[in-house]
Parts: sequence; C-alpha cells; structure tokens
Amino acid sequence: MLKFAYHNLLASTLIPSAIPLEKLKESAEIVKVAHQEILSDRRADILGFYNLPELDTNHITDFIAKQDDKFDTMLVLGIGGSALGNKALYSALKTEGELKKKLFVYDNVDPVFLHETLGSVNLDTTIINIITKSGTTAETMAGYMILVDIIKQKFPSDYQKRIVITTDREKGFLRQVIASEGYASFVVPDNVGGRFSVLTDVGLVSSAFVGMDIAALLQGAASMRNRCQNPDIWDNPAYLNALIHFLYYRMGKNISVMMPYSNALYDFADWYRQLWAESLGKRKDNSGRDIFVGQTPVKALGTTDQHSQVQLYTEGPNDKVFTFLTVENFKHDYTIPNLHPDREEVSYLGGRKLSELLNAERFATEIALSQAKRPNANIVFPVIDEFHLGEFIMLYEIQTVFAGKLLQINPLDQPGVEAGKIATYALMGKAGFDKERSDIEQYKKERGLS
Ligand code: PA5
Repeated sequence: MLKFAYHNLLASTLIPSAIPLEKLKESAEIVKVAHQEILSDRRADILGFYNLPELDTNHITDFIAKQDDKFDTMLVLGIGGSALGNKALYSALKTEGELKKKLFVYDNVDPVFLHETLGSVNLDTTIINIITKSGTTAETMAGYMILVDIIKQKFPSDYQKRIVITTDREKGFLRQVIASEGYASFVVPDNVGGRFSVLTDVGLVSSAFVGMDIAALLQGAASMRNRCQNPDIWDNPAYLNALIHFLYYRMGKNISVMMPYSNALYDFADWYRQLWAESLGKRKDNSGRDIFVGQTPVKALGTTDQHSQVQLYTEGPNDKVFTFLTVENFKHDYTIPNLHPDREEVSYLGGRKLSELLNAERFATEIALSQAKRPNANIVFPVIDEFHLGEFIMLYEIQTVFAGKLLQINPLDQPGVEAGKIATYALMGKAGFDKERSDIEQYKKERGLS
C-alpha cells in the first residue's frame, strides 16, 4: 500500500506557518459539499474513471494473445491524455527491467522526433496504435496519415494487422476508417476524459502488449478508490491532499512541485503536471464568474535537481508545496566500493548502497525544506510495480476532481486550449475557418509579419 506522509504539510514547531489542524477542521463544510458533488457526478455517470477498476479486460488480453509473436514493439501515436499515461507506465516498469516488449510514444509533430522514432523501431515487427478520443486532434492525425501511408506502402498485403485505432465508441471519422479498413479497434469511454483515461483501453492496451500485469494495475486502482470513498479526510488521502493543496493555494502557494527520487517515476510527474494543470487551471467558476484559478504544477527529479532547483526551493519565494515520491525497495541496486578507504572525502560512501544514498538525500532535502519552512509531503512506494502505480493513478485522479470541487470549477473540461486549436486550423487551411484566417492576417499586419 502507498504511504502518504503529510506531517510536514501541517503546522509544527519546525514549520509554524504551515496549515494548522484547526483550519482543516474548519473546512468540514466545504469538504462535505464537495463530497456530495462527487457522489452526484458519479450517479450522473460523468466520473467514469472511478469505475475503471471493474473494467472487463478480456478484449485486450484476447487481442494480445492473437498477435503474431514477431511483433515486439508498439508505437503509440497520441498526445496529452492519449499519451502521457502510456509513457509514464512504460518508463516506470521498463526501468525496473521487467518488460519483454518495447513501447515508443510519438506525441508531438516535431519532424526530427519522428525521424528518430522511425530510426529506432523496426516497422516489420511494430504495431502502430493511434489513440485519439476525438479523432480530430491535428497532431495525432498528422502522425496517423504519415505512418499509415508508410505502413500501407511497405506492407501492402497485410498492413491491416499492423494498425490499431483507439477512439470514441461511435463518434468521429476514424470509426468509419476502422469499418472500411477492418483495423482492430479499442474504445475511449464517453464518460472518461482524456487525462483521466490511462486505466481505459488508452493505457491498458500498450501496457498489456509490453507485458505489464494490467489486472494488478486495476487492483491497485480499486484498492485506492475504495480507500478514497470515505468522506472523512483522515481516512481519504485523496481528499486530504486536495484540501491541503487547496488551502495552500488560497494562502498564495501557487506552485505544486512533484519531485520523484526515482528516474522510473519521473514521467509520472509529467502525467501529474497535465492532470493538475489542465483540470484546475480555469478562468471561470461553475457560475460563469471570472476567477482565474489554478496551481502551477512543476516537476523535478531527485537527486538531479538538487543541483539545479533546490537552491530556489529553499531560499526563493515561499510560494510552493512539495511532494516527494520515494521508493523503499529498488529492484536493482549497487554497493559503492570503498575505492579510497583512507580518503575521508569519499570513504564514508564505501560499502553503502546507491539506494541508501538516494533515500538519504531525499530525507536531507525534506529536512532542508522543512527548516526553510516550506511545506512538503512524501508519497512512499514500497516497490515500483503495477499495483502501486494503479494506486497512485487513482489517488491523483480523485484528488484532482476533489480539488476542482473545492475550487468550484469544472475539472473535466479544457476550454483554454480551444483558441490555439482554432488558430492552428485557420493557419493550416481547414475549411470553415475563414473569419479566423482573416483575423490572423490582421494580427500579422499589425506586427509587420509576412
Ligand atoms: O485531457 C484531455 O482531454 C486532453 O489532454 C486530450 O487527451 C488531448 O487533447 C488529446 O485529445 P484526443 O484524445 O481527442 O486526441
């Protein structure tokens, strides 16, 4: 079970400026209201991610079982919620050395990145999985058209078995493509938003393909979901952490830093960044009032960023809340040899494990931040495996929607990304965007751009 150490988030003699217990008690009413709203959203079936642990995954295991053994790589084309969870899960378990097959995720439209990706995969043994809930995302559709064209030309007789599409059950033009081409397909459920979808086919297909135990992943998620159904914040780590972050945000701590002391978990800090930023960064509250809220999520890596960011974290503005991710037991470890027993500069390291040094440095940073009166928490993975990753995913998904309720915003939409999408359509000549195109011409003229 994941452990959540939150003592340095609460007021103590070391951090007297942290949130006092009374403040949490005074929040009982807003917690109650937010909990009721979550229950009502669940009844209305708009928080589908809560029910994903019960997802029937036979269609995924059947698909994997039917694949030709020669397929040893999956290349995912997707972006945002259709990519970050896949990457995070793969990085976490690949680094632990457990996976048999490879995953690549092409989640940009950078041509050099595509060139590198194509240079790294053997297309003959690769399945391409195009993931897009809407089927309209320019970045993913550009990659889709390039890749499918390449695959069709290279493997004209059996290209269909090399292409998989994950999209809405009914909507979108990709459903027509699936029907006419006969591609295998998977579903992004209607009631699960992109950034909450890692435990749907979106994240499970690539995870099962590379050899992850997706049943254990869902068991971990179920265990955390059950733990976080309790309305009492002291028995519900997601609610407690959301409330504390909300109260800190109200106290001016506009930045939430997630700092794994594990390279394997670094991409989960990236996944968290999207979840927290896109869900909570909102202009309007539920009644349509301008409120411009949101805490900026930042990722840092221990120990690497101790030599980059920690100076700012301890002595810069006291506007951040920190969350460390710690691993108790690493699957691989090294003992540092006592190469210079008579040199005190390094002999203290001799005979110690690298993991011991890593976790000592994590604890040292916790002490340094606490002494500098910076609130910090620690989420402890007994070990990095599917079960604990499932717990972590569910913890943060519930925490995020609960924080959205406390902020009185809609954590499930993303109206702020629309303007950029529309301007891209106009710039790239999509039909129906003439007005936006002429606005852009005016914009360029005013700035002397050609
Ligand atoms: O969380 C979200 O909804 C977004 O980040 C989407 O996942 C992202 O924009 C990709 O959308 P789509 O899956 O429709 O291509």
